[in-house]
Amino acid sequence: MIITIDGPSGVGKGTIARITSESVGFNYLDSGAMYRALALFADLHGIQKEDDKRLKKLLIDFHIRFIKEDGKEKVFINSDDVTEDIRTNEISTLASKFAVNETIRGVLRQMQRRLVKNKNYVAEGRDMGTYVFPGAEYKFYLDADPAIRANRRALQLKEMLGININETKVLEEITKRDKLDMTRSVCPLHPADDAVIIDTSILSIDDVVKKVESVVKNNA
Ligand code: DC
Repeated sequence: MIITIDGPSGVGKGTIARITSESVGFNYLDSGAMYRALALFADLHGIQKEDDKRLKKLLIDFHIRFIKEDGKEKVFINSDDVTEDIRTNEISTLASKFAVNETIRGVLRQMQRRLVKNKNYVAEGRDMGTYVFPGAEYKFYLDADPAIRANRRALQLKEMLGININETKVLEEITKRDKLDMTRSVCPLHPADDAVIIDTSILSIDDVVKKVESVVKNNA
């Protein structure tokens, strides 16, 4: 069974998806981490998002693995631990830019479908309920006011990487990223027609988790 959770940056989908996956005993797919890892990998090789020829070659050597260590989900590209490297603001922006490339989306989509095949997953991202798993049993779309999302992102960066970042700058970046993610021609971010939309602006994490769980339990 697949539960999808989509939405814009900083809306709290990662936290909600992780908690929900634990409470229902499902695996967790962080599709954004795949776009981030690919952007980092391409950048390290000096490859631009338009360079389809080199990107195709690079994708052959791109093996992403999610490994749980001491209760923490770690992300590896081949044998390198990139868990923290993919969370910087620079990589957020770069991931969004690479995510417009159709070749990349096609390959990552196949990887995502292969990963969840015949398993139970909470899949989180931008296009999980719309383009990757249109037949998912439960779909959620989380949204929140951009200023609130910027505040959450700034707190998250501080907690995860110890980085103090100017919230106004984060808001600018989030607004740019929203625009790019929502207006790209391939698989743009939008709610699936059959998604339950939750505005998390004034809700606590616990409130949102309870809402998600109640939809799943009431329809199980
Ligand atoms: O969820 P995130 O912030 O980790 O995602 C980083 C970028 O990756 C996001 O701005 C757009 C892209 N992305 C995507 O296009 N499709 C997904 N399913 C997940 C992420």
